[in-house]
Formats: sequence, structure tokens, C-alpha cells
Amino acid sequence: MDHKEVGRYWNGNAEAWTRLSRAGYDVYRDYLNTPAFFDMLPDVEGLAGLDVGCGEGHNTRLLARRGARMTAIDISKVFVRHAREAEEREPLGIAYRVASAVELPFDEAAFDFATGFMSFMDIPETDRVIAEAYRVVRPGGFLQFSITHPCYDTLHRRNLRDENGVAYAVEVGGYYDNQEGDVQEWTFSAAPPEVTEGVPKFGVRRFGRTLSQWLNLLVETGFLLERVAEPRPSDEVARQCPTVQDAQVVPLFLHIRVRKPA
Ligand SMILES: C[S@@+](CC[C@H](N)C(=O)[O-])C[C@H]1O[C@@H](n2cnc3c(N)ncnc32)[C@H](O)[C@@H]1O
Repeated sequence: MDHKEVGRYWNGNAEAWTRLSRAGYDVYRDYLNTPAFFDMLPDVEGLAGLDVGCGEGHNTRLLARRGARMTAIDISKVFVRHAREAEEREPLGIAYRVASAVELPFDEAAFDFATGFMSFMDIPETDRVIAEAYRVVRPGGFLQFSITHPCYDTLHRRNLRDENGVAYAVEVGGYYDNQEGDVQEWTFSAAPPEVTEGVPKFGVRRFGRTLSQWLNLLVETGFLLERVAEPRPSDEVARQCPTVQDAQVVPLFLHIRVRKPA
């Protein structure tokens, strides 16, 4: 299984994903991941940025609204079409292209920074994704990305809940079993059945890597580790959106920022 085959899966997910996420059902993104990512992000005003695996462009638009001059790529034509349509409705100066993270159609050092919001763990050629990000970022520039947490989003994972349905532990296993394209079928858990009825589930291929594999890969590529976060929703956020309460028990996501030496 290579990135092109994975891309076909994502293209098949793109219509439903765009519709459901724009309707507010990607709650881990909206209540947890995106706010935490932007809390950690350095000032990007006036910088040239590349968003890798941009989907329908939600987070790219937030980067552009922070003043970054954004280019964004995704392997799925359907996602890129939706992103371009949003750009036509509300121009933010974002240039979208259909391309793969493992062969970026850009010159060396073309960008001040690169981002990857929840996309890198879905691509089998992990080393090429990191190497390409390193190549297109200028010396002194940075890469910041979020992934599902390698330690807690494992092959086996089950939430343990008390009698009130409140998660108090997460059972994990299979951490060392590199996932090489296992299909996971799911939809946004916050979407009620009447919304998801008749909507095909997302078929997502997973390529799990251990925490040490991720960190060693970044270091071996030449990046300097700068900042790491494991976002936890506050009690207030968990009250507003009970779905994300399980992320109070263990971190479900990992955010990393690395810098290319000047
Ligand atoms: C979980 S979605 C995240 C989308 C978006 N970044 C967001 O935060 O909403 C993963 C994205 O990675 C994209 N993707 C998967 N493989 C890719 C590849 N080889 N190159 C570029 N994008 C890829 C998918 O098409 C999808 O849009």
C-alpha cells in the first residue's frame, strides 16, 4: 500500500467528511486540536506557509486569517475542490494544489514554515513526508504537525467508563505493532444517527509508528525538536462537548514543532 492508494481512500471520504465537519461534527478538531495547535503556533504574520494534507481547508483558512501567505496541498481532488470553492466564496489568498506530501511540487526552501494537521499518520511513507517538509522549509523555518497520539491511539484501544458513562481509563495494546494499512471504519462520533444514516463510513488506512520512531525520524532528518504538546480539554470544554471528555484521561493527540537549523 502506498500514498496513492491511501489517497484514493481519502478521496472517497472527502464528500462526507467535508459535509459533516462543516456541520460541526469534527468536535475533537474544533474543541481540542485546532485551539491547542494555534496556542502552540509561533507568530506567522507575513510568513509564507505550506499546509500539508489540508483537507477542505478549515485550518488553512485559520492560518491565512492569522496573516500567513498560505499554499496548501492535499492528495484528494474532492477535498481540494471544496477548499477552492471556499476560497472563491471568501478570498484569503490561499493557493490550493492537488499533490502528495511525499513528493511536494515546490522548490527547496520555498516556505518559512509548514504545517500538517492530523494528516501525517495517515501516510505510509512517513520518512518521505518528513524529508519533504524539511526540504521545502527554509533554514531557520519550522514544521508543526499534529497526529493521533502514538501511545494511546494503538491497534487495540477501548475506553473504560463508569456507571455514568464517564471515561476513567483507556485500555491500549499493540503499541509495537506498526500498523501497515489496517482499515479503520468510523464516522464522527458526535454526529447523531439521523445525520449519519445513509452516509458511508470513512475508510481510513492507518500507519501507526511508535513515539520513538517519530522522534528519531525527525532528529535523523535534521530537525531540532522545539516544542511538544499533548492537549487536554478543560472541564469547561468537556462540559460543553462531552464527546471529548475521554481526552481528559490520556492524551489522544500529539503536537510537535521542529525547526530546520539556520
Ligand atoms: C484527517 S484528514 C485532516 C484534514 C485537515 N488537515 C484537517 O485538519 O481538517 C487527513 C488528510 O490528509 C490527506 N492526505 C492523506 N494522504 C495524503 C498525502 N499523501 N498527501 C497529501 N495529503 C494526504 C487526506 O486527503 C486528508 O485530507
